[in-house]
Amino acid sequence: MSSATAAADQVREYKRQAAEFAADMVQDGMIVGLGTGSTAVFLVEALGRRHREGLRFLGIPTSIATEKLARSLGVPLTSFAEHESVDLAIDGADEIERGTLNLIKGLGGALLREKIVAAASKKFVVVADDSKLVDHLGADCLVPVEVTPFGWESTARHLGRLGARVSPRRSPTGQFFVSDGGNLILDCNFGTIAKPADTEDAIRRIVGVVDSGLFTGIASEAVTCGPEGLIHVT
Ligand code: 5RP
Repeated sequence: MSSATAAADQVREYKRQAAEFAADMVQDGMIVGLGTGSTAVFLVEALGRRHREGLRFLGIPTSIATEKLARSLGVPLTSFAEHESVDLAIDGADEIERGTLNLIKGLGGALLREKIVAAASKKFVVVADDSKLVDHLGADCLVPVEVTPFGWESTARHLGRLGARVSPRRSPTGQFFVSDGGNLILDCNFGTIAKPADTEDAIRRIVGVVDSGLFTGIASEAVTCGPEGLIHVT
């Protein structure tokens, strides 16, 4: 096995451990927000096992991909038509700012549903391998911004005026990437983000923006895993 493959396997193992720790926080009767991404896959798999062992809960998935996975594992699902709030949402992140738990999310393109579920949650726990921890958001990670297809070029110019280098996300075949909500994603390089809450607000005020992958003041806990083991920040 090459050292790159071994390192990738190790990161997957860290993601699995963090996700399974958080899956154990789910209690009988809860409405659970089910995140999206490779870490969240481990969460949904663990919850599928717990469901088969008799745990009663209902999940609200944050993407079509997570919904498909949950259904394939027999995880019972519900929606905001039936439930006003979520007891516990668990999701991955692309960057987690140490100390604040402000996040960048959405490199998987599911940021809007993820943010709706997180914002409706009594508790939002972020799960990740510890390479996602950073001192300041944005230095090494683009901020995805979901925008309406109409006028995206104009919206992109406004984002540029906030100081971002902006590129529309494309699929591997070169087509525009389209989100589950039928919108486009503009990947924005802001460099280091000194005041993430101000940047999140400024992005949201631009007409044409649906929302961004900056999640400030939403995560209440983080479970990370790395060479030091599991760390649960509450
Ligand atoms: C998807 C997300 C994911 O949670 C984020 O990209 C982390 O993914 P992974 O667990 O695969 O590292 O925000 O929109």
